[in-house]
Amino acid sequence: MPPDGSLPAEARATVGRRGFGVYVHVPFCATRCGYCDFNTYTAAEVGEASRAAYAEAVLAELALAARVLGDAPPKQVDTVFVGGGTPTLLPPDDLARILDAIDATWGLAANAEITTEANPESVSPASLKALRAAGFTRISLGMQSVAPTVLAVLERRHTPGRAAEAAREARDAGFPHVNLDLIYGTPGETEEDFARSLAAAIDAGVDHVSAYALIVEEGTRLAARIRRGELPYPSDDVAADRYLAADATLTAAGFSWYEVSNWATSPEARCRHNLLYWTGGDWWGLGPGAHSHVGGVRWWNVKHPAAYASRLAAGVSPGAGRELLTPAERHMEEVMLRLRLASGLPLSVLDETGRAGAARALADGLLERRAYEAGRAVLTLRGRLLADAVVRDLLP
Ligand SMILES: C[S@@+](CC[C@H](N)C(=O)[O-])C[C@H]1O[C@@H](n2cnc3c(N)ncnc32)[C@H](O)[C@@H]1O
Ligand code: SF4
Repeated sequence: MPPDGSLPAEARATVGRRGFGVYVHVPFCATRCGYCDFNTYTAAEVGEASRAAYAEAVLAELALAARVLGDAPPKQVDTVFVGGGTPTLLPPDDLARILDAIDATWGLAANAEITTEANPESVSPASLKALRAAGFTRISLGMQSVAPTVLAVLERRHTPGRAAEAAREARDAGFPHVNLDLIYGTPGETEEDFARSLAAAIDAGVDHVSAYALIVEEGTRLAARIRRGELPYPSDDVAADRYLAADATLTAAGFSWYEVSNWATSPEARCRHNLLYWTGGDWWGLGPGAHSHVGGVRWWNVKHPAAYASRLAAGVSPGAGRELLTPAERHMEEVMLRLRLASGLPLSVLDETGRAGAARALADGLLERRAYEAGRAVLTLRGRLLADAVVRDLLP
């Protein structure tokens, strides 16, 4: 990574051809949930001063980004996604300053989608109104479950009803788009627990739901408890049953899947920022540990907030490393990401081995026949349960 963060001319030449987004990583949480391995720190780990200095450091990276893309800036910013961590631990004013600076640097599109993630316990009607006034159009709340036993295993701090209540408050504050994240397959979760979580998310009147199978990440407290035999490892069969329940319940309530783990009530409610990731768009990731992708170059920032801030204070790029994707890697990414979308993958992008794999997947009932005959690989419901295996079959 060059110290000034400069990019090869070939990468700058195509900036924003398939859309341009900005990701902002906020690496702070009040406490760390037992299952989470995101790049996030508690106040005990990094101190309050780190949070106070955060917005300035991000603005410094934005100024560096403006220099790097100087003679080839994106036409406009189509989407912004502030994720974490817990962005809502910062004062709404800090997030507003960052948004204003992005607008002043590259210009936000008139219809830009501007999302922030939020934890249910760190928002209030007043803070939600302030975020809406700052320009956010979408909020994504971590609900995970309404079952107290599940929230306890996950070590989540909020009370069972708080996430749905926060979603209602967000709608009242004027957010046109509200998402709730659910996790299924937590050890001890019953079929009824998950059914109640789905019902509560739907009752909250949101237009988007993400549902993820619990992943046991190495190095987390959850992984340690499983290793010690205190909790069983999540079962794949249970996860498959829960996925089928999620799809059936959400579909009956008027949601449609558009990516294997994401359902929305209309095309406008789909997360355009994530779609940009999944369809080869460009984005600049600001903040500690953030990843970026511009014109086939991928890079990632140093993870610790103090290292990030000191690099920028010295006028040096916070990039820790980067790679130029080879054509083979780009092909692999395209197949992996597009096959997970309801719009699927054109069969024409596959090589001979991939097409033979697609024919087998069709015969096994994992791809939709009608789409296949029209030249696309689109997963069936059973195919969605086995998405990773289908991807492997379509790659050389
Ligand atoms: C950065 S977090 C979301 C925002 C916020 N910090 C929160 O937790 O409420 C993004 C989402 O990733 C999901 N997630 C995080 N770790 C996970 C894991 N180990 N397995 C499955 N889903 C996970 C959760 O659903 C979480 O809401
Ligand atoms: S609040 Fe979200 S980001 Fe923070 S530790 Fe929990 S799951 Fe991870």
